[in-house]
Amino acid sequence: PRLAIIVVAAGSGTRLGLGVPKAFVPLAGRPLLEHALERVFDQPEPAQVVVVAPASHRAEAVAIGRRVAGIAADALTVVVGGDSRAASVSAGLAAVADTADVVLIHDAARALTPAEVFTRVVQRVRADRAGVIPALAVVDTIARRTPEGAVLGQVDRSELAAVQTPQGFPLAAYRAAVAAIVPGVEHTDDASVFAAAGHPVVTVEGDDRAFKVTTPWDLRRAEQLVRGAGP
Ligand code: C5P
Repeated sequence: PRLAIIVVAAGSGTRLGLGVPKAFVPLAGRPLLEHALERVFDQPEPAQVVVVAPASHRAEAVAIGRRVAGIAADALTVVVGGDSRAASVSAGLAAVADTADVVLIHDAARALTPAEVFTRVVQRVRADRAGVIPALAVVDTIARRTPEGAVLGQVDRSELAAVQTPQGFPLAAYRAAVAAIVPGVEHTDDASVFAAAGHPVVTVEGDDRAFKVTTPWDLRRAEQLVRGAGP
């Protein structure tokens, strides 16, 4: 396939406090990763899908992948992740075949991201040969503050955007950008790795449903959405 999609699912999910890695927490009776993969396989382009799982849940990730992918299971690989999200992304990238021209990197924790966001990102990567990130306008007022909580000032929110996944890149240029990462420099997302290598990054419209399940409150919201009781 010309498209590769890495789904990182190797985080511990300690903020959910359930003692299970986040991607394997049940949402309406099925693991978060299963919900995420359903939407990945709903996007219309044939794709190589690489799931990055914790070592403890490798077999479960394979079983989930088989359930969702069905006859497309040949196009699904499961690899074991690392201690940081960046290490997990690298593990996924190593499993991506060079037949692809575009790679998407997606958080399993953004399990309800609809298929159309994937399509939007892929089309823009091919059109612009740039890094592409889905983003939403920030609606809250954002304050800069000290660690003690004293407010230093407000930030002009018209310049801000909340960044989601999947983030998309031309594959070869992304591999080169990862290889060029300066040790010790922290990147909080995949696009900042690409930008650090001198490449342009542009936003496309994100989606409210692409929120990251992080807290118990997020899980309840996701549950309502899946059960059709949500907004
Ligand atoms: O921790 P956070 O919610 O920011 O993680 C975002 C995504 O990255 C999640 O889907 C999580 O499973 C993944 N991750 C990973 N390996 C890590 C840490 C996070 O695959 N070591």
